[in-house]
Amino acid sequence: MFKILKKEELSPSVFSMDIEAPRVAKKCLAGQFIILRVDEEGERIPLTIANFDREKGIINIVFQVIGASTMALAAKEAGDSIVDFAGPLGQPSEVKKFDGTVVVVGGGIGVAPTFPIARAMKEAGNKVIAIMGAKTKDILIMEKEMSEVTDEILITTDDGSRGIKGFVTYAVQELVDRGEKIAQITAIGPVIMMKSVADATRDMGIPTVVSLNPIMVDGTGMCGGCRVTVGDETKFACVDGPEFDGHKVDFPELMSRQRMYRDMEAEEKDHICRIGLGRK
Ligand SMILES: Cc1cc2nc3c(=O)[nH]c(=O)nc-3n(C[C@H](O)[C@H](O)[C@H](O)COP(=O)(O)OP(=O)(O)OC[C@H]3O[C@@H](n4cnc5c(N)ncnc54)[C@H](O)[C@@H]3O)c2cc1C
Ligand code: FES
Repeated sequence: MFKILKKEELSPSVFSMDIEAPRVAKKCLAGQFIILRVDEEGERIPLTIANFDREKGIINIVFQVIGASTMALAAKEAGDSIVDFAGPLGQPSEVKKFDGTVVVVGGGIGVAPTFPIARAMKEAGNKVIAIMGAKTKDILIMEKEMSEVTDEILITTDDGSRGIKGFVTYAVQELVDRGEKIAQITAIGPVIMMKSVADATRDMGIPTVVSLNPIMVDGTGMCGGCRVTVGDETKFACVDGPEFDGHKVDFPELMSRQRMYRDMEAEEKDHICRIGLGRK
């Protein structure tokens, strides 16, 4: 069992949890993820490692409540435990000293996984700029934490309530227009956002890494659930990724595979909401 040490609501339906997981904390690196199960009947869900403390043996996860499993996780409180917490999984981010500025772009909940990457890039001696996008200012997360590990933050909101009005790609364009020499962009967030960033940077010639979030089941490269096409190759996001060259990812295929289970998931979520007896 893995104990929840701390729980915090960062914005409506977005929670941060500190989990006691010393073995994961000992080995994990920026860009990796875990797969957890809330209880014996629960589904396995992948979540990115948003932060870690090796000495205290703590892993921080940040998640948005969107369906049955994240709802069950959000119902847990500090002091409760969850049954499985496997990791670290996936390949870590490539962290090195770049010849130019490193930019991390986080959209919505995607800001959380960009945090350990920004910190590692900064520790490697890079100038790091974070672009943080949200629909509106009230749901922006982790601004204080991000400001502590970056040289500059650019905020974008869809409604203009904070920072640049519009999408994260507007902030990328602003950096390019002011002559920032960008060596690499790492974009994490909704698939459509990552696709937009990759489309924009392709013409600009800026190397762009995206962190893919296909459906994952076993997380070991055996089931094929997380299959993605990158360039001409078939990759499994759980073992070969989750980070890939954004200019080579087949985003339309990824979006269509993500839609495959939507009806089933909606049914499960409705089932829980209507009866109110908890999970099946
Ligand atoms: C490598 C990786 C890292 C992720 N990191 C985060 C994170 O840090 N924070 C966060 O809030 N979310 C993260 N996600 C997405 C998270 O796994 C899903 O939101 C979660 O599984 C939803 O489960 P549910 O039962 O609550 O919702 P459901 O109603 O079951 O599903 C809603 C949507 O969530 C996605 N999803 C469902 N099951 C899975 C699954 N087994 N694997 C992948 N996606 C699934 C699908 O897009 C689906 O349409 C990550 C996904 C991947 C693959
Ligand atoms: S989750 Fe099964 S192969 Fe990746």
